[in-house]
Amino acid sequence: KSYIYLHKKLLNVYEFQTVAAIMFCLEQINNNTDLLPGVSLGYKIYDSCSSMPMAMSAAMALVNGNEETVYLNRTCSKTSTAESILYLLVNIMFASLSCLQISHTATCACLSNRKEYPSFFRTIPSDFFQSRTLAKLVKHFGWKWIGAIRSDNDYGNGGMATFLQEAQNEGICVEFSESIYRTYPREKFLKTVDVIKKSSAKVIVAFSSSADLAILVKELLIQNVTGLQWIGSESWVSSVNLAKPVNYRVLGGAIGFIISSAVIPGLKEFFLNINPSKSPGWNELWENIFNCTFATQDKAANINPCTGSESLQGINHVFMYLSELRIINNVYKAVYSIAYALHDLLMRFNIDLHFITKSGENVYFDENGDSVARYELVNWQLTEDGTVKYITVGLYDASLPEGQQNVTEIAYLVFFKIPVSVCSESCHPGTRKAAQKGRPNCCFDCIPCADGEISNTTEIMGEILALFSLFGACVTLGIAAVFFIHKDTPIVRANNSELSFLLLFSLTLCFLCSLTFIGRPTDWSCLLRHTAFGITFVLCISCVLGKTIVVLMAFRATLPGSNVMKWFGPVQQRLSVFAFTSVQILICTLWLTIVPPFPYKNLKSSTEKIILECDLGSVVAFYAVLGYIGFLSIICFVLAFFARKLPDNFNEAKFITFSMLIFCAVWITFIPVYVSSPGKYTVAVEIFAILASSFKSIYPLSNPLYPKYRVTGAARQETNPGQGVSPPQGTHTHPHTKHTLGTI
Ligand SMILES: *[C@@H]1O[C@H](CO)[C@@H](O)[C@H](O)[C@H]1NC(C)=O
Ligand SMILES: *[C@@H]1O[C@H](CO)[C@@H](O)[C@H](O)[C@H]1NC(C)=O
Ligand SMILES: *[C@@H]1O[C@H](CO)[C@@H](O)[C@H](O)[C@H]1NC(C)=O
Repeated sequence: KSYIYLHKKLLNVYEFQTVAAIMFCLEQINNNTDLLPGVSLGYKIYDSCSSMPMAMSAAMALVNGNEETVYLNRTCSKTSTAESILYLLVNIMFASLSCLQISHTATCACLSNRKEYPSFFRTIPSDFFQSRTLAKLVKHFGWKWIGAIRSDNDYGNGGMATFLQEAQNEGICVEFSESIYRTYPREKFLKTVDVIKKSSAKVIVAFSSSADLAILVKELLIQNVTGLQWIGSESWVSSVNLAKPVNYRVLGGAIGFIISSAVIPGLKEFFLNINPSKSPGWNELWENIFNCTFATQDKAANINPCTGSESLQGINHVFMYLSELRIINNVYKAVYSIAYALHDLLMRFNIDLHFITKSGENVYFDENGDSVARYELVNWQLTEDGTVKYITVGLYDASLPEGQQNVTEIAYLVFFKIPVSVCSESCHPGTRKAAQKGRPNCCFDCIPCADGEISNTTEIMGEILALFSLFGACVTLGIAAVFFIHKDTPIVRANNSELSFLLLFSLTLCFLCSLTFIGRPTDWSCLLRHTAFGITFVLCISCVLGKTIVVLMAFRATLPGSNVMKWFGPVQQRLSVFAFTSVQILICTLWLTIVPPFPYKNLKSSTEKIILECDLGSVVAFYAVLGYIGFLSIICFVLAFFARKLPDNFNEAKFITFSMLIFCAVWITFIPVYVSSPGKYTVAVEIFAILASSFKSIYPLSNPLYPKYRVTGAARQETNPGQGVSPPQGTHTHPHTKHTLGTI
């Protein structure tokens, strides 16, 4: 707040602006035939004189309605009280009477407490949002080591407490935290200056009123403490009194959040038409602006009398500074909130307050009575004409989803050089952090890594595993190529080419998906890891399962003339593979949407190392994915086991049985090892399991030129006319029986 001292009297011109804005809004609302039709709103505006008894009287008068007796007999004295206490007292009183209040300036986070202030609303964001946003800003610039200064009152203490809490969550360390207050003795301020001078932090966050900070800045100027980056709270960053060229040496380049401004059409015209003869109570302001005096009962206006018809047009006075409507926009929203609420109540007997102002701003209140936090990020800059301006370099809008809130964040990077403020520089490759005893964890020494610890070289193990996985993928593709080249030969056609190609395709994916486990975990690789592997494995096993079922069905169908293809033909095969895989896709989709895995720094398993790993998000989902694979592979194993004894050349079932056995063994071994081995070994074990089981799946496929499906008996020959009629030349045929190659 800035006061204007004139005529030896304390006159707050900004409050006159507020009053004029309220009058403007009410006139606009009453003019509007859609809003509150048939109802006119009026106002009673009291001057608290910045004094507690006056504020209480005014509040009482408002509640009781007998203002003459309680309030009007008092006169303003020049003693003033800290404002926040005033607000609190009046708030407590209103709260105890359950009177609705909408404040346009009270920012204390304490007022969000619904138990204590059930009927309190505000159109100014709570300091809580500002503190959190400041912490995010500090983090954004990579400042890990900061100093903190606060006003020793509700505003400073409350705001700083939230900031420190938030900063701690963001991993920011605080070198010092000092409090200042305008009535403190000078020694206290000098001590604070000393602390700042001795500190190594290059960034100072100040949650302070402008009056308190002004005294500190004066001392800093005397001792020439410059070159620090100041980050500020609304109160002082937006202060016209502080933003002066003298202070620029200390505060130059300061950044901070201020309440965003808005355009209110018609307001300027309304202000220009204000006239003391039309609106009572404006004489004092008029005398202030035009430096004249009105005649009263007590005294005649001898020198420079006011006529009352002076024009505000073209006047250079604080009252007419309307280019940036910040607080006034909050007044506007508050008055309109009341009008809309009354409108709702009268028209629909129910309040569901949400409206859009003429300048397009959404207004609503959350469950704590707070409105949406919307700030402008400003940067103090020295303009060419030698004045200090705060230039808007970014916007913050809490109503936007997380991550999009810094709309123009690039803008401010170009305006000033970003200082580095860290306690210790990050360690070079080949060295590691070692905590310093008794100091915050932002301060550490760098000591060389022992053998085998973190270094700038890629881990050998990762490279080997990646090679194996690529090798596997190549082998699989090679087999697929052989299949493809010979795709028209009866042998390949006999080998159930559709399922085989699908199997080869999914196997290639299985090999490749082990690559997502290698390297530094990222958002994407964490998401892909288990899900990609889960889905491709199920696809792979479904194909094997399909093949097993085909083999089984072929030999269970003993009646001559019955056709396997009728019961489990290509359509059914495709459908079953699709159905089995969809279940896994569903599990994975649920996993990714409800509790997705994310990269995470594990500091717990070792005191000296930080292990970068993927947090599973949900262990249940992980085991559901594994469990489903296990379930399918056991079915596959059981079916293949039954089919293994089928006539000699139908030997694929034997291979499948064997490979499923190995598969189950690998994964049964995997689980206890996975649970017990720490860090990178967990990942290595999982990759190994994936590779092992992928390689074994090649095994039953590795003899594609082997005529496996042979159906004895003429009956079967008839069932497949035109397909695989005669044994191919040079293939291995059974010497004892007459063989015909059938397509199964
Ligand atoms: C309200 O209506 C009157 C009469 O039409 C007009 O003179 C006045 O400017 C309007 N006020 C506002 C705030 O729009
Ligand atoms: C208010 O002041 C008037 C005159 O100054 C006096 O007559 C009246 O009694 C006072 N009222 C109260 C409630 O003090
Ligand atoms: C690892 O870092 C050291 C020191 O920074 C450097 O000399 C060496 O060449 C680096 N090795 C690799 C493989 O980048």
